[in-house]
Amino acid sequence: MEPDDKVTLRPLIKSVDMLLVQRWLGDDKATEYFSPYLRRNWLEEIEQDKGVHFIIDLKSGIPKMVKVFPVGLCTIREIMDDGSDGTLVILIGNHVHRRKGIGTEAIKQLIDYAFNNLGLHRVTSYIFHENYPSLRMHEKLGFRFEGRMLEKILKNGERHNIIIVSMLAKEWRNSRSI
Ligand SMILES: CC(C)(COP(=O)(O)OP(=O)(O)OC[C@H]1O[C@@H](n2cnc3c(N)ncnc32)[C@H](O)[C@@H]1OP(=O)(O)O)[C@@H](O)C(=O)NCCC(=O)NCCS
Repeated sequence: MEPDDKVTLRPLIKSVDMLLVQRWLGDDKATEYFSPYLRRNWLEEIEQDKGVHFIIDLKSGIPKMVKVFPVGLCTIREIMDDGSDGTLVILIGNHVHRRKGIGTEAIKQLIDYAFNNLGLHRVTSYIFHENYPSLRMHEKLGFRFEGRMLEKILKNGERHNIIIVSMLAKEWRNSRSI
């Protein structure tokens, strides 16, 4: 990301964004740390308007020559009816846009939305044990390690541990006011 670049979230528009989203979620490399279950369910949930889905846009360039292009997708899913909890998922679709701070900026905005707009009490992320970038991103933002589900996911013949991390609304607000 260049110094003038800006990351924004906008609501996913199925008629506009679905092809791109299908391409991202169909890419084995981009989704190497997703369970087959998540890939399938994420698409189904978008189709069925379950959960809250955003496209991550990157605005880049100098004033008057600003380009805006979609670089990823992020979602709050499994939102509990009583507002107790929601699950975060994020995907920067193309590798060239990774490791530039875009994921961190996007998930901050997603968390703000979860707490300020949906009024959730907490958010949870489930992360493959091998997914260092995602673990690091959550750690940097102050998420709490809650546990490890041993050999929870079977993928390509191998079993993977899943790390659970969470953040409470009050903790997020405190960390933002520092
Ligand atoms: C996880 C993901 C969203 C992170 O987004 P990103 O824009 O690449 O991450 P950021 O640039 O904001 O980096 C976050 C931190 O992780 C580190 N990081 C990111 N990618 C890394 C890599 N490949 N190797 C080592 N560190 C990495 C960054 O250096 C940064 O830590 P730092 O500030 O201490 O340097 C992105 O890698 C992605 O879409 N992965 C595939 C989907 C996925 O795994 N989603 C999460 C499911 S829970």
